[in-house]
Amino acid sequence: MSGSYWLKTGHRTRYPKLGQDIDVDVAVVGAGIAGILTAYHLVQEGKKVALFERFRIINGTTGNTTAKLSAQHGLIYQDLIQRYGKDRAGAYYKANMDGIEAIKQIDLLLDLGSLVENETVYAYTTDPAKVPSFKREIEAYRELGIRGEYLEETPLHWRIEAAVSMQDQGILHPVEFLDGVVKAAAKKGLGVYEETLVEGLDRKGDRYVLGTRDGLKITCGHVVYGTHYPGWEKDDYYDRLHARTTQALAYETREKLFEGAHIAYDTPSVTLRTMEYFGKHYFLIGGQSHMTGDGFSDEERYERIEELAHKLFGVTGPAFKWSTHDLMTEDHMPFMGRLYPDLPNVYTITGLNAWGLANSSAGALMITDLIMGRSNPYVEMYDPFRKIQPLAKDKEKERSSSTVSKVEQVTVETLGPDRQTVIERDGKRIGVYKDPQGKVHYMDLACTHMGCPLGLNDGDGTWDCPCHGSRFDKYGKVIYGPAMTDLKKVDPS
Ligand SMILES: Cc1cc2nc3c(=O)[nH]c(=O)nc-3n(C[C@H](O)[C@H](O)[C@H](O)COP(=O)(O)OP(=O)(O)OC[C@H]3O[C@@H](n4cnc5c(N)ncnc54)[C@H](O)[C@@H]3O)c2cc1C
Ligand code: FES
Repeated sequence: MSGSYWLKTGHRTRYPKLGQDIDVDVAVVGAGIAGILTAYHLVQEGKKVALFERFRIINGTTGNTTAKLSAQHGLIYQDLIQRYGKDRAGAYYKANMDGIEAIKQIDLLLDLGSLVENETVYAYTTDPAKVPSFKREIEAYRELGIRGEYLEETPLHWRIEAAVSMQDQGILHPVEFLDGVVKAAAKKGLGVYEETLVEGLDRKGDRYVLGTRDGLKITCGHVVYGTHYPGWEKDDYYDRLHARTTQALAYETREKLFEGAHIAYDTPSVTLRTMEYFGKHYFLIGGQSHMTGDGFSDEERYERIEELAHKLFGVTGPAFKWSTHDLMTEDHMPFMGRLYPDLPNVYTITGLNAWGLANSSAGALMITDLIMGRSNPYVEMYDPFRKIQPLAKDKEKERSSSTVSKVEQVTVETLGPDRQTVIERDGKRIGVYKDPQGKVHYMDLACTHMGCPLGLNDGDGTWDCPCHGSRFDKYGKVIYGPAMTDLKKVDPS
């Protein structure tokens, strides 16, 4: 089945569209984990808060994640020590552990039925050439007091060369958990508005006025953009983020297949975890991470992961498959805090580097502190305008993890039903979709955000933007921002 396991199995409460102008203390834009947790904490503090979502809650990357609640973000700590020194590297671990603890506490407090479980996470390699990196990482753990071990085997049944584990981490069902959090906050007065696209930002003294696509006004004292890519830009500063897509597949199994949550720093890389919700067992396998909209075949990428799942576990026929992207920063630390230094009371949580659950939870706590006028120890570390320190020596360049080919472009005449292709007319790239009835739809493949050329994702049937990750469905309808509008229809004749 195409689509995310989380969105297909989780329950999401429906909320109304904004129907009239509104005045609140804090407007939180975007109902993924970043926006929801920030809104939740602010409501607990007694603020009048409204949460706005352009589609449905938890529809974005949060509804499509692998949902490991972890401070082990690859072999990052050796790099952080090198870039920023021991204090900041330790603070990054501490911030993420605070974020994890906050989520575990919310789960307990709201009695959401153990949707968050404690888990040990493992990073491993089967490549002997990578062993020295793992040894350096465990040294970094020891220097920073991180609870973890160097291992030569893991709970997985295949041989590995090296691994590092991290204790006291977690896994969760993000849709079930966050739906519960929104419901609890709504009971305490949070206004929640779906299908409400927020745009524009005007400063009026010490207040801000945002607009909606339907022409309504949101007046507030503080704005928090939990929009994944910042929901408002005054220049191209956030162009520094780049979008990376990963594919995930979920298989139903008779029993739990393995303990722990795992990620292989191999070529190709692979991520693994199990799910035990609603009386059924599944496991998730993901990988084939690549630059969004790179023009290579996502259909083949799914096939490669299916082959791997068969080789490792003897399974065939995934129950769910989906792909999504996250926004990456150069130093692998998020951009969280003031959206622009000269714009008081406007905040962002972005650049979560595919490790956004613990990080955005830390960001939600930090922004709550800032709005409440309290200090927070992580402001400088996460500052979107921090000076990004380079690594002393170049890291090993990423080797191509893919054996997939470029998406084959065919002519409109030979295009099968329910298939897409790209053609050129007068030097312009045109997207073509032939629907199941044989009707052909033509659209301009310039992204409606800033005009980047869209790539065909033949695995999910979408048009994906390599610049900041906007996605459009087969007909050109925007399904993922920052783009606000659908693709332009064109007449190819
Ligand atoms: C394949 C994959 C696996 C991952 N696995 C993990 C993992 O195991 N652990 C981990 O910690 N992290 C993981 N991540 C990263 C993590 O899932 C993300 O960092 C996180 O979910 C991002 O949350 P968010 O709230 O910032 O964005 P989103 O969940 O995308 O939410 C943003 C919301 O804002 C809405 N929005 C945007 N613009 C507007 C607007 N103008 N008006 C109104 N609404 C708007 C969108 O519709 C969307 O619902 C993974 C990422 C990927 C790609
Ligand atoms: S998402 Fe920014 S140009 Fe496409």
